[in-house]
Amino acid sequence: MKELSTYTELIEKEIEAIDLPVSPDNLYAPLRYFMALGGKRLRPVLTLLGAELFGLEKEKVIKAATAIEVFHNFTLIHDDIMDEAPLRRGKATVHEKWNQNIGILSGDVLFVKAYQLICEQGSEHLAEVMELFNRTAIEVCEGQQMDMDFESRSDVTEEEYIEMIRLKTSVLLGCALEMGSILSGASLSDRKLIYDFGQHIGIAFQIKDDILDLYADPEKFGKQVGGDVISNKKTLLNVKGIALSDLSQKEVLKQLSTLDDLELKVSRTKELYEITGARLACEAEMQRHYQFALTALDQISVNDSQKMMLKGLAAYLMEREV
Ligand code: IPE
Ligand code: IPE
Ligand code: MG
Ligand code: MG
Ligand code: MG
Repeated sequence: MKELSTYTELIEKEIEAIDLPVSPDNLYAPLRYFMALGGKRLRPVLTLLGAELFGLEKEKVIKAATAIEVFHNFTLIHDDIMDEAPLRRGKATVHEKWNQNIGILSGDVLFVKAYQLICEQGSEHLAEVMELFNRTAIEVCEGQQMDMDFESRSDVTEEEYIEMIRLKTSVLLGCALEMGSILSGASLSDRKLIYDFGQHIGIAFQIKDDILDLYADPEKFGKQVGGDVISNKKTLLNVKGIALSDLSQKEVLKQLSTLDDLELKVSRTKELYEITGARLACEAEMQRHYQFALTALDQISVNDSQKMMLKGLAAYLMEREV
């Protein structure tokens, strides 16, 4: 979104300024590599926008915003190990380019770096910021564990799925926004509303991520297309796919989950999600949460004109191809 370039540029500059030692090279080179790969920088932008919405300049929350992005990058490095993902942001993942131990340890450094940045932020509201951040970090781990546990189950309900993605993905979007609003001294009720906006945008965002994982253009996507099917992730496509299948289709899906020919596994599963209408059902569920998000945003006690950037960003997220 080009209207956001001044925001992302601010974040990029701050990320470049993070002081990383050179030695040991096997610890810090992967971090420099990963942080420089870019990505959408969505979460830190949310922190900047969450502050601006309540009248605080974006420059005043830059450290907190950067902390959120650094934390996100830590979760991605570890997520790629857990998901055995070969590609991220169009390049080799850290554990592929180096190895798993290096991925674990360099991820750990990023987690601590996030705390350092929050401390550097300094604010009369630091205790509340910390409380929110700590709770969020634990919830992300809970969601990630549920995601892994679900791989070996075939009876995951839609409700369980939504709770899993709320934890692994949405809470961080809510946290990013609320952190900006806490730092700008927003009221408790507005803080709750912006967090709610983030939760629903986050759920819609992860549903979109699930859809893209199977349907994205591999040239643009930057991640392995079909990775979720290969590792038997319980995405919304899968949950809806099973629910919408007749008995014989259910049997086919079950057999596909153990198929060794991965190319066939991905293409046949994709076909079934089309035939059963699972893909369309996912898009509808994504739209539903997008609307919930807009309703929460509407209720925040600032002028509509100040909400335009957040509205634009939310709309872009639903249309994105990456
Ligand atoms: C990927 O997040 C992890 C999910 C929660 C789906 P993004 O899609 O925001 O990844 P980057 O930061 O833009 O690479
Ligand atoms: C990742 O979900 C969520 C976190 C990193 C916490 P995914 O595993 O779907 O994210 P991608 O698709 O690898 O980016
Ligand atoms: Mg993953
Ligand atoms: Mg994952
Ligand atoms: Mg994914």
